[in-house]
Amino acid sequence: MSVSILKYQNLLLLRHSLILVPKTPLTRVTIKSSLITKSFSSSSSSDMVKAIRVHELGGPQVLKWEDVEIGEPKEGEVRVKNKAIGVNFIDVYFRKGVYNAPSKPFTPGMEAVGIVTAVGSGPTGIQVGDLVGYVGQPMGTYAEEQILPSNRVIPIPSSIEPAVAASILLKGMTAQFLIRSCFKVEPGHTILVHAAAGGVGSLLCQWANALGATVIGTVSNKEKAAQAKEDGCHHVILYKEEDFVARVKEITSGSGVEVVYDSVGKDTFEGSLACLKLRGYMVSFGQSSGTPDPVPLSSLASKAAFLTRPSLFQYVLTRDELLKAAGEVFANVVSGVLKVRVNHTYPLSEAAKAHEDLENRKTSGSVVLIP
Ligand SMILES: NC(=O)c1ccc[n+]([C@@H]2O[C@H](COP(=O)([O-])OP(=O)(O)OC[C@H]3O[C@@H](n4cnc5c(N)ncnc54)[C@H](OP(=O)(O)O)[C@@H]3O)[C@@H](O)[C@H]2O)c1
Repeated sequence: MSVSILKYQNLLLLRHSLILVPKTPLTRVTIKSSLITKSFSSSSSSDMVKAIRVHELGGPQVLKWEDVEIGEPKEGEVRVKNKAIGVNFIDVYFRKGVYNAPSKPFTPGMEAVGIVTAVGSGPTGIQVGDLVGYVGQPMGTYAEEQILPSNRVIPIPSSIEPAVAASILLKGMTAQFLIRSCFKVEPGHTILVHAAAGGVGSLLCQWANALGATVIGTVSNKEKAAQAKEDGCHHVILYKEEDFVARVKEITSGSGVEVVYDSVGKDTFEGSLACLKLRGYMVSFGQSSGTPDPVPLSSLASKAAFLTRPSLFQYVLTRDELLKAAGEVFANVVSGVLKVRVNHTYPLSEAAKAHEDLENRKTSGSVVLIP
């Protein structure tokens, strides 16, 4: 296989790599041998773009398709024309008011990949025509174009298609901090991942398997179970039909797991604690089923268990942390450790349908909006 070089921070990428796993067959993504050209001319588009707006909190129907004015980038900012936008469960929390948006109306969205169309004054290190990605605050990626702080944008290797990149930035970096920093998964560990066929869950299981862990995953149905198996789960539990605590005890011969990655929250939290081995780690990183009930500190005592409630954004505060996490994700995509499942795409204008499907547990892998 010919090997050409694409430098991305400290990362060398191979020329041909298997990357994309849509619902159907594998797609081969080719890495171009040169960096992205910088000759893309600045957009002459008007300040008005289409975006999804939330005026009042509520169900998916509150996501409205409207014209918004975005203006030109100021010092330290760039303007980006989005090519693909990642949908994440956190967008649902903001839409419903589980998390508070700073003001209303607001444009949801925390993950997107696009082309830089204008650069503000001052040193940004970014040029018109660069393909960049973005995760986190300020919220507002559900838009055709947006203004972003240049120190938070991430150069995307030209080998990785925008829809693929928008499927692995926030979710992949979440998997990265969960198993590389928050609790370091090592060979020989046995771990439990809830919602193992979801956007984050799929990547977590693949990565943990590659690190040498025994992976137990929970899912709601047989189709998702098949996907979770493909993604490296050694044991899959249908947690709507089976008692997952009893099954974990059975699988681990009564000893429990080193760590539980629990993004489901209310419905699983208590059972997750019961699955831990002595001095095990309870990583509660989401609440797809609702916020877990308060936990008395004493409930951790019998196992001397550790409990943490982390967020990606506290693990990628500095630019170095941000690029290191993204670089590790890209490296794993290019090497084939992570097969990216872009299982669902919707036009940006149909974001409400995407939210409805995500909340109703109809999706698996990543969900992407295309402007
Ligand atoms: N802390 C962080 O920094 C961070 C970062 C990213 C994501 N997260 C969290 O990680 C979780 C996964 O995010 P994601 O965007 O990848 O979503 P996702 O996992 O693709 O979708 C959520 C999944 O949760 C499961 N689920 C269980 N009970 C549910 C319920 N009552 N309602 C809806 N879903 C339910 C479903 O899988 P089954 O059908 O198999 O049950 C569903 O497909 C979310 O809780 C999110 O908030 C946290």
